[in-house]
Amino acid sequence: MSLSDCRVIELPKIADARGNLTFVEGGNHIPFDIKRVYYLYDVPGGADRGEHAHKALHQFVICMSGSFDMVLDDGFETQRFHLNRSYFGVYVCPMMWRYLDNFSSGSVCMVMASAPYDESDYIRDRAEFISAVAAS
Ligand code: TYD
Repeated sequence: MSLSDCRVIELPKIADARGNLTFVEGGNHIPFDIKRVYYLYDVPGGADRGEHAHKALHQFVICMSGSFDMVLDDGFETQRFHLNRSYFGVYVCPMMWRYLDNFSSGSVCMVMASAPYDESDYIRDRAEFISAVAAS
């Protein structure tokens, strides 16, 4: 898979004077069934998260509050996404090195994932990632 398989997805937004509503349906708005949701919050200024790839996991990343950047890297090229709206998310396909930085204070990053947590699905070593990309 390459960077071109990743993309920004705009979610439905039901605008209402009482407050907006957005929803995500696995297999409909995003190209996988949702098996897990996790979120990053209380991220201190200057902190980076991520710095790994997943062998098989599909993910969808939404900024629920505040803002942050996510950099995706398929081993050949990189792209920086600035996330600051809760009705946009970025679909991250498998075998994509990623890190998140530039978290604003109070920001919340929610991630929907295609499988339960599995440490054996991680590639945490950048050289190992580059070797795996070269071999594929
Ligand atoms: P990790 O995915 O490594 O986050 P980051 O790359 O941003 O540091 O997760 C951090 C820790 O949390 C790691 O010990 C694994 C654990 N974890 C779970 O137990 N379940 C989960 O669903 C996730 C995402 C992480």
